[in-house]
This record gives sequence, C-alpha cells and structure tokens, in this order.
Amino acid sequence: MGFEFIQTSVDGAVGIIRLNRPEVLNALNLKMVEEIVTALEEWDQDKAIRVILITGNDKAFAAGADIDEMANESTVAMYQKDQFRTWDRIAKISKPIIAAVSGFALGGGCELMMNCDMIIASETTKIGQPEVKLGVMPGAGGTVRLTKIVGKLKAMEMLLTGEPITAEEALQYQLVNKVVPVELYFEEAMKLAKQIANQPPVAVSMIKRSLMTALDSPTEQALKYERNGFYLLFSSEDQTEGMSAFIEKRKPNFSGK
Ligand code: HXC
Repeated sequence: MGFEFIQTSVDGAVGIIRLNRPEVLNALNLKMVEEIVTALEEWDQDKAIRVILITGNDKAFAAGADIDEMANESTVAMYQKDQFRTWDRIAKISKPIIAAVSGFALGGGCELMMNCDMIIASETTKIGQPEVKLGVMPGAGGTVRLTKIVGKLKAMEMLLTGEPITAEEALQYQLVNKVVPVELYFEEAMKLAKQIANQPPVAVSMIKRSLMTALDSPTEQALKYERNGFYLLFSSEDQTEGMSAFIEKRKPNFSGK
C-alpha cells in the first residue's frame, strides 16, 4: 500500500497504521483520513490480518483536523466535501482496532481514538476536544461518543472548556484501557493486539459486531443479535476445534473458518 501521510506495516497477523505528519503533530488532513480508512478496509478484507493497530508518535497521536485546510472554507464547501462519509466507514470495520496513543489526542485525534475498539495510552497523553476554542464544535462524534463514554458532566466540562485531560484522568473515566510509561505504550498495544490475533477470528468479529450493536440498540434487539451470532458460530470450524481442544486438553489451532 503506497500512502503519503501514513505508513503501514505488518507484524504477524497485526496490521499497523502509523500516522505520519510529525511536523504538524499528525494533524489530520482529508487525504490522511482517506488513507487511514483505505488501509483499514483493505486489511478488513485480508485474511492474513486479524487485528489493526493505529498509532502516531510519542509526541502526538493526532492534534486534530488540519486547521489550515479548513480555516477559509465556506459552509457549502465543507458540506460538499462531506468528509464525515469517510469517517463513518471506520465504524463498519469488523476486525478489532487498537489505538496506541501518546502525546496529543485532540479534536479529530480524540475522535479517531474513540473510533478504535481499545486504547493503550502513554503517561504523557493529553486528550481533549478543543474545537470550542476555534469557534466551532466537534463533527466526527466528539459530543456523541465522548458523552457516551465519560458521561454528561465530564464531557460537558471537556467540550465547553476545550481543556485536555491527562492519561490518568482518562483512565479514571474509562476513556482508555490502560496507561503505561511512554517507552512501553506501543509494545503494550502490540501485546494486546497479538493476544487477540490468536483468538478465533470469526468469533472475534462476531463479538465485536454484537458489542457495537448493543451500544446503539434497545436491549431486546441487541440480545436477538447476540443469540443469532451465538448460533451461527456453531457452524464454524473454530467452534469444533476450540471445544475439541478443551476436551482433549491441548492448545487449539484456529483456522479462521
Ligand atoms: C494544523 C497544526 C495542528 C492542527 C498543530 N499544528 N496542530 N496544524 N492543524 N490541528 C501545527 C502547528 O501549527 C505547528 O506548525 C506545529 O504543528 C507544531 O505545533 P505547535 O503549536 O508549535 O506545538 P505546541 O506549542 O507544542 O502546541 C501543541 C498543541 C497546539 C497544543 C497541540 O499545536 C494546538 O493547540 N494545536 C491545535 C489543536 C486543535 O485545536 N485541534 C482541534 C482541531 S479542529 P508550525 O508550522 O507553526 O511549526 C478539529 C475538528 C474535527 O479537530 C472535526 C472532524 C474531523
């Protein structure tokens, strides 16, 4: 995959997307978001990849959408660009996405992070939605996802002051899974990615879909979705292998079928 603003690499069954505009703290321009989503979709279709990891560098995961790119735009131009159609594609990725975050995760950077399924943060991470300071507001889910995760009071404070919170505070509000020293955040995220990559992929994807459905549907409907997934997995080879391995007291060898 040849990209301008991201670097991609593969380690075992983990596809790694590294945001790569360090000179502007990985500010997300439209092309960069398109590249991230293209890489996600290509790997979602690639059987050799089981988990996707998104990272930046120690100083910045991403300091938000590219302000220079939008500063002089009109409403009509912003509307016609329809950038959120690209963002919406992230929620359709069926493989787990892990964010390895350090430094600034602001605005669109925080929104990209919240679009991931699990987040490992370094102690130096600063997370916030500073759009209000620019006279605008979040547009890629900041008022929606942040509020669902941290609750009304903290979300209101973060969104209306625009001030970032520390990694420790983010952990307290369950906005990140784990906080580790800066030397370890990538390694820790890879460890988690590899652990999940060893699980049976059809079950992993079904569990992700069921959980995502549960977040956005009434309980009865989500329970129906879960039950259908449960039954469906009994037609997978991995179910036979997983249960046989347990009974035979050996390690399972999952084929992903
Ligand atoms: C464009 C950016 C940028 C951004 C940083 N830079 N953030 N360029 N868009 N979002 C550039 C700076 O202009 C500067 O370029 C270089 O990166 C280094 O930044 P500094 O400000 O010099 O670094 P520092 O003093 O360490 O301050 C870091 C910072 C600050 C606190 C993160 O850069 C900052 O406040 N950035 C903007 C954060 C923000 O408002 N994000 C929300 C954007 S709106 P030069 O050329 O001067 O060296 C948004 C809406 C999302 O995200 C909508 C959905 C997609």
